[in-house]
Amino acid sequence: MKNIAVLVSGGGTNLQALIDAQGRGEIPNGKITLVVSSNPNAYALQRAESNSIPTKVIRRKDYSEFSNYDTALTDLLQSKNIDLVVLAGFMTILGKKVIKAFENKIINIHPSLIPSFCGEGFYGLKVHEKALERGVKITGATAHFVDEICDNGPIIIQKAVEIQNGDTPEILQKRVMEQAEWKILPKAVALFCNDKIKVVGNKTEILE
Ligand code: GAR
Repeated sequence: MKNIAVLVSGGGTNLQALIDAQGRGEIPNGKITLVVSSNPNAYALQRAESNSIPTKVIRRKDYSEFSNYDTALTDLLQSKNIDLVVLAGFMTILGKKVIKAFENKIINIHPSLIPSFCGEGFYGLKVHEKALERGVKITGATAHFVDEICDNGPIIIQKAVEIQNGDTPEILQKRVMEQAEWKILPKAVALFCNDKIKVVGNKTEILE
């Protein structure tokens, strides 16, 4: 059984999708044992608490040096024997130390089809604003491993979502969540916990 830490900053609908998938038995070899929030007021914390999942708040601004923040987060995850870290709407950039300590063990959900609309500055609603501004007809979501470059690590699963007439960033965000994020993130986590993801260079192979 792998111990899963989910890192959040806001509403936590992706955390909820993981909790629900776990409840349906869809992540048989993993258990969410910790939720870490960068924001003490994140609704995601209430979702964790109402499912009896231990929580911890770690804020970047509580550390004068970024390296001390990086060390605190790494130490926390290691002290709780975490096997997999999931970034589910986590809005603080991770440091080198935690990324090295959990190489190919950190999964992020990004609300576009990487390599479109990703990298620094592309997060949350902004991703959908940019997609609508560019006039793409298809967008989607990507579950990928995290490396030292933002949104660059090996891709695990992607799912496409159609843009519709009259879409606003908010409407599109909701459709991408419902049709893609909440489906592929639990799947990627289950694959990881079942040892079904092989990383080869900057790519993954999903094992049968
Ligand atoms: C989600 O759409 C997630 O893909 C996005 O933030 C939202 C968090 O929602 N993440 C990023 O943009 C990361 N670059 P949630 O708190 O309801 O899961």
